[in-house]
Amino acid sequence: MIKGYFDNAATTYRKPEGMYEFIADYMSSYGANVGRGEYNTAMTSGKLVSDTRNKLLALMNAPEDRVAVFTPSATIALNMLIFGLGLKKDDVIYISPFEHNAVLRPLYHLQESLNIQIQFIPMLKKDKYKYDLVQLERYMKNAQPKAIILSQVGNVLGNIAPAEEIGKLAAKYNVISIVDGSQSCGVLECDLHYIDYYVFDGHKTLLGPTGIGGFICRKQCNLTPYIFGGTGKDSANHDMPKTLPERYEAGTMNLVAIAGLNYSVGWLINNLLYVKTMEKRNRERLYHLLELYNYLTIISPYHESSGIVSCKATGFTSDEFGKILSDRGIAVRTGLHCAPKAHEYIGSFPEGLVRFSVSALTSEKDFSALKNVLDELSDEII
Ligand SMILES: Cc1ncc(COP(=O)(O)O)c(C=O)c1O
Repeated sequence: MIKGYFDNAATTYRKPEGMYEFIADYMSSYGANVGRGEYNTAMTSGKLVSDTRNKLLALMNAPEDRVAVFTPSATIALNMLIFGLGLKKDDVIYISPFEHNAVLRPLYHLQESLNIQIQFIPMLKKDKYKYDLVQLERYMKNAQPKAIILSQVGNVLGNIAPAEEIGKLAAKYNVISIVDGSQSCGVLECDLHYIDYYVFDGHKTLLGPTGIGGFICRKQCNLTPYIFGGTGKDSANHDMPKTLPERYEAGTMNLVAIAGLNYSVGWLINNLLYVKTMEKRNRERLYHLLELYNYLTIISPYHESSGIVSCKATGFTSDEFGKILSDRGIAVRTGLHCAPKAHEYIGSFPEGLVRFSVSALTSEKDFSALKNVLDELSDEII
């Protein structure tokens, strides 16, 4: 049984209480498909979807000219964006050293198949978590990259990237910017005026269910569709509809997950200050708790970080230590966290790290369970 859940970066486990009932109510009372009929329940599903889009745009303070596109996950959103850019041989793409495999693998595939060039955003020598924006500007001027992709919060360490500043620089040099907000949407702000594509993931910081993600983009964006199929509209057209979001939403959507997301995003909007305060407080509390144990070495930076504190455990591999915690009811992530370049960059490749991660809803019970286990281990390890 899980006594303390510290794997919120993988998926937030505690969700806003009312969400479960809202999903059940949606399933038992409505549950028709969107845009596939004019009957009442189909209209209700349609309203639910458009209301969820509007709530996401409101949560992100998106400019008027933006639309939220739904996909089954952040991974699929990132694949659609990367493959939809229409990259060609020798096109240069800049990424941060902290990107998830949802970014790396599509890019490696295009590197193999098309010979695109993957370059890394330069980091400051004196602070390895700070971006060298002066050098980056120079590179943008000279290399004329096609796009720049970066996660606002890295999923290995929780370090925060200056997404808005990089978005501004990209806009100045006509470079397409893609910000992966999987670990930050709803917790950190991001001014979307300068960001071309902003990816969100329903089941992480948005506190919703799995099976729903997407991206926010301009209504006039130029992305080539990557997935083709029925949309319930414009069915005689051989191409996907020209209008957004339908152009990028082939196939039946995960309406059950959207119902959950509708509830969780509404809840976030109504409790935004509480969520931001609690997320920050829980992260600081976690950091200061882990600091107390001399068999743990914290690798995550203290400042400019969100949600995550990753550590090395003296005398154990990360998997061994994770198993010890798991046997005592504490859930954490171990090994390589789907972002191998981040581990290489900080020197934790291939053994990985023990990643503890909180959300705004991490409870007193979680913390006391973790403290008890770490105290027990102190006695046993020393
Ligand atoms: C930064 C980041 N991007 C993308 C993803 C992919 O998300 P999903 O597995 O929900 O598609 C994750 C998941 O861990 C992530 O942390």
